[in-house]
Parts: sequence; C-alpha cells; structure tokens
Amino acid sequence: MCGITGYIGYRDAYPIVMNGLKRLEYRGYDSSGIMMFDGKNILLSKTKGKVSDLEAITENEKERKVGQIGIGHTRWATHGVPNDINSHPHTSQSGNLVVVHNGIIENYDTLRKELISRGYVFKSDTDTEVLINLIEEVKKNEQCMLGKAVQLALNNVIGAYAIAVFDQTKPDEIIVARLGSPIAIGIGKENSEFFIASDASPFIEYTKNAIYLEDEELAIIKVGRDIKVRKIKDDIRVDANIQKLKLSLDQIEKGGYDNFMLKEIHEQPKAIIDTYRGRMLADQGIIRMSGIDDHINKFLNADRIIIIACGTSWHAGLVGEYLIEDKARIPVEVEYASEFRYRNPVITSRDVVIAISQSGETADTLAAIKLAKSKGAFVFGICNVVGSSIARETHAGAYTHAGPEIGVASTKAFTTQITVLTLIALKLASKKGEISKSELRAFMQEMKLIPKKIETLLKIDDKVKEIAAVYKDAKNCLYLGRGFNFPVALEGALKLKEISYIHAEGYPAAEMKHGPIALIDENMPIFVIATNKGHYEKVVSNIQEIKSRSGKIIAIVTEGDTQVKEIADHVIEIPETEEALAPLLTTIPFQLLSYHIAVMLNKNVDQPRNLAKSVTVE
Ligand code: G6P
Repeated sequence: MCGITGYIGYRDAYPIVMNGLKRLEYRGYDSSGIMMFDGKNILLSKTKGKVSDLEAITENEKERKVGQIGIGHTRWATHGVPNDINSHPHTSQSGNLVVVHNGIIENYDTLRKELISRGYVFKSDTDTEVLINLIEEVKKNEQCMLGKAVQLALNNVIGAYAIAVFDQTKPDEIIVARLGSPIAIGIGKENSEFFIASDASPFIEYTKNAIYLEDEELAIIKVGRDIKVRKIKDDIRVDANIQKLKLSLDQIEKGGYDNFMLKEIHEQPKAIIDTYRGRMLADQGIIRMSGIDDHINKFLNADRIIIIACGTSWHAGLVGEYLIEDKARIPVEVEYASEFRYRNPVITSRDVVIAISQSGETADTLAAIKLAKSKGAFVFGICNVVGSSIARETHAGAYTHAGPEIGVASTKAFTTQITVLTLIALKLASKKGEISKSELRAFMQEMKLIPKKIETLLKIDDKVKEIAAVYKDAKNCLYLGRGFNFPVALEGALKLKEISYIHAEGYPAAEMKHGPIALIDENMPIFVIATNKGHYEKVVSNIQEIKSRSGKIIAIVTEGDTQVKEIADHVIEIPETEEALAPLLTTIPFQLLSYHIAVMLNKNVDQPRNLAKSVTVE
C-alpha cells in the first residue's frame, strides 16, 4: 500500500508534497516522511503517526520546508514496525540517494545479506533501505547514470514496487518506476514542472495532463525535457501516453461533511444515477453497456461466470451471483481473489470472469485476473478508479461512476458495483429471453426510483443514531439476512468491524441455528433484515428464535410492517422495492449505524487502524 508523492519544478515543493500526502493518506497512515532538497543538501523529516504529526514537526522549522524538489511518503507497514526509523524516505549508505517506495521487495533478505557482505550497514528493518543501497551499489560498480542504475537494480528485485528515487549529486532529475503498484506523473506547462503521486489527486489543481506508468516501466523526469519512459527488463524506449484527467478538486474534498465516509454515504443517490446514466434506457426497455454489447457472445456462450474480488467488492459480487443466476439463469461462482489465485482453479476459455474492485489496484484481484487470462478466460472488470491497473488489465469492463471514494470503509462503491451488476444481469436476461420487455421496463422504472428512496432513507439518520447510542458498547454483534440480503448482512458486519473495532459476524439467517445461536444472550445485539419480499415468514421465525433466547433485535423492515414491529426491540423502516433491488436500500442503515457507533466511540472513521483503502500487497 503506502502513498508516494513528489515534486520537481519552480514552485516551493513543501506545500505540494505535504498536501499530496494528506490526499494519499487513505493508502496508509502509520508513519510518514518527507525529503526536501534546498539546492545544496537534502533534509529528511520522518515520524511515526499520521501526516498531521509530520506536519507538526516541520511546521515551525523553516529550513525543513525549503526547496523546489521534494518527495514524500505515507506508510502502511510491511517490513519493519511503524516507527521513525522505518518511515520513508530512506537514504543510501553514502546519503546521496533517497527513495520512497510502495510495495514489497520479496527477496530483500538475500539482497540485504549480500549488501552487508559488501560493507553496507542498515539503519532500518525495511526492504526499501535494501533497495536504495542496491541501487547505490549498482551505480558505483557500473559507473552509470541514476536511471540506468535503478533499472539494473530493479532487474535483481523480486516483488512489487512503485518508487521515486532522487540523487543529490545530480539534483535535476527524479527517477520513478513501477511494477504492481500504481504511479502517476503530472506534467506542468512546457515541462516546467512535474508531479509524482500514487494517484492523480495530489496534483489535480496544477495539471490535467498525466502519465500512468505501466508495469515494468521506468521514467526519467527532468525539468525542461520530455519524460523518457523505458521498459525495465527489455530496455527499450516506449512512448509516454499522456492522458487528460477528468477528476476535479471538489470531488476529492469533504464538501461540508465531518469526514469522507459520511459524505460518501450521502453521495449514493447521485453516484447510482451516474452509474446507470446513459446505460439504462428505462422507457425504451434497453440497456446499453458497450463492454457487454461488444462481447455479448462471450457471456451468452459462457459455461459459467466466475466473480473474483476482495472485501466489500466481494460482497457486491455475492449480490451479483444472486442477481445473474436469478435473472439471467447463468451459473455464477464467487471467489475471494486471494484464494482463487493460489488454489489451482479449473478455468477454461468458456469461462467469463468478472473482477470487481473499487480501486482497481488490489494486488490479489490483479493476480487472479492474470491467472484467468493465462487460462484463456474472458475477463470483464468493474472498477471505480478510471485508468487503474485492473481497468487496463481486463479485456473489457464497466466503470462504476461513483467518483473518488476516500473513506477506507467502502460505501458508495458497494452500491454502485451492485448497480452495474444489476444492469449486467438484466442485459443478459433480456438477451437470453429470460425476461420480457415489459418486465424489464417495469424493473428499470423501479430501479430509477432507488436514488430517491435512498434519499428518504438517509433522513432516518437520527433514529439510527439513537440505536447506535444503545448498542455502541456491545462487544459482539450478529447480522442476519437471507437471499439477496445475506451479502448485505456480511457487509453490515464488515462495516462495523472496520471502523468501530467491535466484533461482528454476518450470517445467513437460517444458518444461525448451526452455531451463532449459542452466542445469543441478553447482551447480544442482532441486526436482522426482514423486508417483506424474500422469505419474510422464514426470517420472522428466525427472529422468534432469537427472542426466545433474550437476544436484542434490531430489524430492518419494509414500511408498514406490523408483525416484526411487535417482536423487535427496534425497527428501521425502508421503502418498498423489488426483492432484487433491496440490497441497495437495506445496506444504508447499516452504513449509518457503523458510522455513528464509530463516531461515538471516538474512532477515526476515515482511517481505521491497520486498514488501507488500496491493498497493493498480497
Ligand atoms: C481494502 C479496503 C476495502 C475494500 C477491499 C477491496 O480492504 O479497505 O474497503 O473493499 O480492500 O478493495 P478494492 O479496491 O479491490 O475494491
């Protein structure tokens, strides 16, 4: 994970790098650091803790902020505990070379021993310090330029990296390289300045022109010159593909909300509309998705669809399974990408793989895609981040147009992923003749009402807050749902765990009898989804079973419900909708609930401990 950022040009680098770190903090936040070059010397500031701790150190010390060249890093520890010494940037033994790194050097131990035998002494426990000393050693032995030394060193490295390297003896350039971890370069007017970052958010107010390095590429960045990009292994020059960015600054700022998670929860009505806009022509009964249309036979002739993802995206995938099987009658399997890639799965060219990822950078999902491709499967991506690695690695795909999601706990990505999956299910159903034109039209008309219904639902915030206050000190919680709402139960439990650190489990309601029922006593809050369509009577029986064991029941019911209201301790009403669309509504109260509990417990909602938004290590 980790976020890296840098600047070389004519402006003061410090505010650019520091603000960049704040925007990238979602990638990791256990320590951070910044290197400034004042024209003569490098000055490092590093500390354990958040970027605000780093800022506090540098704020009153003018000399730490001087210069037009700077690189910075916000860390999510892999090798070495989070402390000041292990924080990046790391310097080489001579002190001349400086690096920031996002990724893992897997053969670091062998390289470290080799370098120790050549007289290198290590200050930190990190794999990154090994890398910078390796670059120094190569540079010394080969008597070459920095770019070449980085290239040769990287050829000896096994692992993943996005790096930025600076040499104070040749301070007019920065070298960046990528394998497996993302890196973007922002280009100033007439090459007068360059910005480096793990994503484009740190430089969006300065330039809209950017290059996203591909895997195995290295770029030499020199002020006043065009960027030179080379393939690391093949050592050939490649044309830099300059893209126009569409992201705007207010899209990545909090817009009046206390934190990003709350903002993103409230953005869902708009995000869902943005996701189906232009694709769902409800009046005509048509779904237009070029990624599917162009490859429709792949889908229609597929033996099965395999959905691969991690975390919240995996939960959306489960909803996708229920949707596609129910509507289009195509067999679907849903797999954790991390298991899929290592368990020798049977994949053939008659399989269609759908990879779901908000960030488009999750290492396990990316590796699983590569595996599926190598076996001949057709791979379709559902990503949020435009131009991300997964978006580029897949044969075709559909973006969720949710806008940047910064809060580590995913909210709008989940509902927009479900929106795309619903469109796919309907599209395939109509192509296969599994749904009539009038049914399709009616379903789409209902789908168009979902954003409004979410807006109504968001108004129950005070009620959810009251419930949160009652249960905020619970040690364990259970979330139950059936059918389409089972994945929502999993997602509800995940949201609570992620930001409140309260243990929670999601379960299919009927499975409760096979284990979790033993946990139920008067201290156990149980959140049950009991909407009117989808096995309502069965869920009511499950609620009775809980009640007779004194569990506390918080039920999500459809407006107008009377039966559950009589038994439950609390009810939250959601507007009536189609059974298959219910997850888009039932998930909202759970998002709000975990949000309020976390706030009441004084937790950092946007940056929960130990987690990261973009998991670029396996
Ligand atoms: C991390 C994030 C989760 C996310 C998961 C998969 O664990 O904290 O919120 O669901 O990665 O991420 P992706 O970007 O692939 O959807």
